[in-house]
Amino acid sequence: MATFQMALQLRPTLISRLEEARKRTDALFELLPPNSFYDRPIAERHRLIFYLGHLEAFDWNLLSDPLNLSPHDSDFDKLFAFGIDPVGGGLPADMPGDWPNIAQVERYNLRVRDRLDNALQGFAQSSGTAKFSSPSLADGTLLHVAIEHRLMHAETIAYLLHNMPIERKNPRIEQFAHPRPAPALRQVTIPDGAATLGQLPGNPRRFGWDNEFETQQTHVPSFSIGAFPATNGDYLKFVRAGGYHNAKLWKPEDWEWRRKERIEHPHFWVLRSSSQATDPDAQWEYRGMFGTIPLPLASPVYVSHAEASAFAKWSGKKLPSEVQWHRAAYGTPEGTEREYPWGDAAPAPKHGNFHHALWDPAPVDSHPAGASAFGVFDLLGNGWEWTSTVFGPLPGFEQFPFYPGYSANFFDGKHFVMKGGSSRTDACMLRRSFRNWFQPHYPYVYATFRCVEE
Ligand code: AVJ
Ligand code: FE
Repeated sequence: MATFQMALQLRPTLISRLEEARKRTDALFELLPPNSFYDRPIAERHRLIFYLGHLEAFDWNLLSDPLNLSPHDSDFDKLFAFGIDPVGGGLPADMPGDWPNIAQVERYNLRVRDRLDNALQGFAQSSGTAKFSSPSLADGTLLHVAIEHRLMHAETIAYLLHNMPIERKNPRIEQFAHPRPAPALRQVTIPDGAATLGQLPGNPRRFGWDNEFETQQTHVPSFSIGAFPATNGDYLKFVRAGGYHNAKLWKPEDWEWRRKERIEHPHFWVLRSSSQATDPDAQWEYRGMFGTIPLPLASPVYVSHAEASAFAKWSGKKLPSEVQWHRAAYGTPEGTEREYPWGDAAPAPKHGNFHHALWDPAPVDSHPAGASAFGVFDLLGNGWEWTSTVFGPLPGFEQFPFYPGYSANFFDGKHFVMKGGSSRTDACMLRRSFRNWFQPHYPYVYATFRCVEE
C-alpha cells in the first residue's frame, strides 16, 4: 500500500514530465521547413513525416484504453503505429504522396493531446483503482513508457536531422568546442570484481523497460579498458593504416557490408581534398548538425559496431562486454557498485555531454567530474558505447503486456548492446540499468566505443 501511495503522488509529476517531453520533440520539428517533412534522411528509416505522427499515435495506442477513452475514427493510429528496423531486408519504397499532409497530421496530434490530457487530469485527481483498472496505468508505468519513448525519439529525430544537408534545415548556430589535441591513448586496469546488470522490480520510483529486469550478477576477471572513448584522432590512424582495406580485421559479414556499401571512413567524416582516405595529407572534416568543421581530433569517433570491432582488432584489443563496461563504469575499488560512474549524485552538466546539452560531441576529456571510481572518463554522454554483447533478455525477463515487442522483437542475435548515452540522451535514461541496442551495420547513431585487453 505504501508503494501505491507513492505512485499516486507521482502522477502529477509524470504528467508534467510528459508535457516537457512534448516540448522537446516539438522544438525538433521546428528545425524543419515544411518542404523537408517528406525527406527520408536515412534510407532504412521512415520519412520524417512518420515521426511527426508516430509520437502521438504511440501515446494514443498505449493510453486511450487504460484511460477509458472511446475510440476515435482515425486511420492514423495504425498508419503511425510502428517504426522500421530492416535487418538485412529491403529498403522501404513508399513515396511522399503516400503520406498525409502536415496539416492533417498536426490536427490529429492536437486532438490526441487534447483527449489524453483531459483524461489524464481525471487520472491525476482520482485516488482509487476503481475508475482506472489497468495496474500499469495506476502505478505510473504507462506514463513512464510514453515519456521515455518520446525522449528516445528525440534522439532518433536528432540523428535523422543530422543526416540532412544543412540547407534542408532551418539554420541554427552550433557552438563547437575549441579544437585541441586528443589525449594520449591510455588503458586503465580494472581489478576483478562484481558487476550487477539490471534492476529488481517493485520500486515505482525506478521505472525500467522490460529488458532491464531482473538482475544478473557476474564476477568479472581483471582487464584493462580505455580511459577515454576512441577519438577521431585515434581513428584517423586506423584509416591511414588502410584499416578499411584489410579484410583480416573485419568479420566476414562486416567486410561484406563495408565492401557493398563502399565504406571508406566514418559516416560523420567528409574527405575534403581529392586525395585518398589513406593519404597522410588528406583533409578531413566533421559533419556537425548545423555545419562542417575541421575534424575535431579530441572528440569521440562515431562509427558502426562493424567499424568499432575492426579498429579494436587492429589495435590488438576487443570491444568490452556489457559486464566489463558495467564494472569499469560503476564498480569501485571497495567492491561496492555506484548508481552513476561519479557516485550517487543526480546527473548534472559537469558530469558529461548529455541531456540535450550540445548538438555535437565535445572533447573526451571535457568532463573530469564524470569519471568513474577507477578513473575511466566520459562514460555517460558524448556518444553511446558499443559492447561485444549480443542484445538478449536478463534472467527473469518478462515482456510488457501492453508492448510485448519493445525488446523481444530484437532478441534475434543481430543486435548489440550499447551503454552510456549521447549529447541527445535525456538524463532520465542515464540510469545504470538502461540498455540500448542497434544492429552492427548502422553508422548513423551517435555511437563510439573503447577497447579492452583481457
Ligand atoms: C531502443 C533506441 C533501439 O529507436 O529503435 C522507439 C527505441 N522503440 N520506438 C529504436 C524505440 C520503439 C529503439 N531503441
Ligand atoms: Fe517508436
